[in-house]
Amino acid sequence: MKNNGIQLITNGKRLDGRTARDMRSIKITPNVVKNAAGSASIEWGNNKIIAAVHGPTEALPRHTANPDRAVVKCRYMMAPFSSSEEHGRAGMNRRAVEISKVTAEVFENVILLDQFPGTEISIYVEVLQSDGGTRAAGITCASVALALSGIPMKDLPYAVSVGKVGNDLILDLDKIEDNYSEADMPVAILPRTNSIVLLQMDGAMTKEQFKEGLAMVIESGKEISRIQKEAIRAAYQEPEKEKAHM
Ligand code: CDP
Repeated sequence: MKNNGIQLITNGKRLDGRTARDMRSIKITPNVVKNAAGSASIEWGNNKIIAAVHGPTEALPRHTANPDRAVVKCRYMMAPFSSSEEHGRAGMNRRAVEISKVTAEVFENVILLDQFPGTEISIYVEVLQSDGGTRAAGITCASVALALSGIPMKDLPYAVSVGKVGNDLILDLDKIEDNYSEADMPVAILPRTNSIVLLQMDGAMTKEQFKEGLAMVIESGKEISRIQKEAIRAAYQEPEKEKAHM
């Protein structure tokens, strides 16, 4: 059980004025890194994140290769200046290792890996500014980066978290809500089938709350998917716009 020392909801409004089911604003910009196979940035509330994809290339070191399929490697990192907390010591910590692992697992479930035997596909998630929900925002952004890299996927995953404050469920927790809510559940979904490809839980919920929380995630997914597809569409429309100006 988490510490519940702060009143997170007053008269139906959260500290930043949202209702329980409101998400923060989400903006995705495609192709932000020239030398990556695919890239995107996301501004999700106060989170600012870049995702970039490299590969498929020969898997190195060799012992990490799988002769039947591609391997997915992910590195999630928070920049030292990304949070009000101390991140002075650069490099991987336990949390970054965990988030890198669960992010790689999301994309192992969606990339058509058997088309690229012996190779590796690397996904980099760089958190420039953080305010809770960075793993969800990173996955949502990396989906777009992968789509833009042309690596074939069976779906476009999105992620968001849902949490519990007293008897209320709240969507898309920011840092203060993440810290002081009784439960926080990040979920990633494949929208075609609503399959769950990431499910973590910090705290506890009843079975009914879990079901309702999942329904809130899937409902909000319609909007998240729309924003992802819009960013991909915008990337393909850009060259035409440039041509029009020539
Ligand atoms: O970001 P996410 O919610 O996926 O992960 P978390 O571990 O639940 O962290 C929540 C938030 O706390 C992050 O988004 C950061 O803003 C902050 N945090 C941090 O600044 N440094 C850490 N070592 C852990 C968390």
